[in-house]
Amino acid sequence: MRNIIIDCDPGHDDAIALLVALANPEKLNLLAVTTIGGNQTLEKVTKNAKNILAYVNANVPLAMGQEGPLVKPLHTAPEAHGDSGMDGPYFKENDYPIVSDNAVFYMYQTIMAQAERVTLVGLGPLTNIALLLKTFPDVKSKIEMISIMGGGIRRGNMTAAAEFNIYVDPEAAKIVFTSGLPIVMSGLDVTEKAFVTIEEINALENGREVHQLVYELLKFYNESGKQFGFEHSPIHDLCAVSYLVDPTMFSGKHYHVDVVTDDGTTRGMTLADRRLKPAKEQNVFVLEDINREAYVHTLLQALARLDKM
Ligand code: RIB
Ligand code: CA
Repeated sequence: MRNIIIDCDPGHDDAIALLVALANPEKLNLLAVTTIGGNQTLEKVTKNAKNILAYVNANVPLAMGQEGPLVKPLHTAPEAHGDSGMDGPYFKENDYPIVSDNAVFYMYQTIMAQAERVTLVGLGPLTNIALLLKTFPDVKSKIEMISIMGGGIRRGNMTAAAEFNIYVDPEAAKIVFTSGLPIVMSGLDVTEKAFVTIEEINALENGREVHQLVYELLKFYNESGKQFGFEHSPIHDLCAVSYLVDPTMFSGKHYHVDVVTDDGTTRGMTLADRRLKPAKEQNVFVLEDINREAYVHTLLQALARLDKM
C-alpha cells in the first residue's frame, strides 16, 4: 500500500487517472486530491475534480492550489478540453466539500502527519509541488518519490519543444527536477503510446454509470484530439498513476533531464542528456515504452471495480 496525493488540473485524462487511483485502494491510499490551474482556470478544474469525486462517492479530501504558474500568466487549453475543462459529460450539482484553499499547506500537513512516506503524483503544471518543496524543505524527508505526467525528451505538444504541463510552469518544473527526490517522468515519449482506440472507447457506451462517464469523457477527447493529428486517444495522465499500480507495464531509462526556463522557442523543454557520457548525474527515470494492452486492462478493470462499488 502506497500513500499518494494527486495534484491535478481535470482535464479528461486527469479525471480518468483519478478514477483508476480510486479503483485500486489495495495499492494506493489516496490521501488527498489537490488542484492547480492548467487545462482550465483553478475554479473550473476544481469544479471538475468535485464532479468526478462526487460521481463515484469518493471520500477523499479536496484542496484548491495555485491559480497559475510562478512567473508567467496562466495558459489554459480550452482547445483540447473545452470551455469547462472537461467537456462532454453532464454532472448533477453536488456539495462535495473543499477542505482548504491552500493546497500547498494542506499537502504539507497531510504528508507530515503520515507515519509512512508519501508519493506525490503531478498531473498538471508543477506549481503546487514546487511551492511545497520550496516553502517546507523538511517535507522532502517524508516524500518517497514524485510520479509526473509531463515533458518529453523527443518532442513537445504545446510547442515543438515543450509539453503543456511543463510549458505552463517551467520554473516550477525546474525546482522539482532539481529537488534531489526520485522522479518518474511519464512524458510524451510514453504517453502518446498509451492510447485507447475509438473501438475501445465505443465499447464502453451503454455500460453502467462509470463506464458511461468514461465513454462520454473519451468521446469528446477523441474528437478533440483529431485537430492535433491523433486518430486514437492518448490518456496521458493515466500513465503517472498506472506506473504506481503496475510498473511492470512500462520500461524506461535514467537520464539527466534539465528544464529550459529561458524565454524563446525552447522554453519548457525537458532536455535529456543522451550522450554516452552525460555531464551530470541522472535525476529522472524517463518512461519510454508501455505494454498498451496491459494499460487498457488496468483501465477496464478499474471501471469494472468502480461500477460494482
Ligand atoms: O500534455 C498533456 C498534459 O496536459 C495532461 O496532463 C493534460 O491533462 C494536460 O494537462
Ligand atoms: Ca493534466
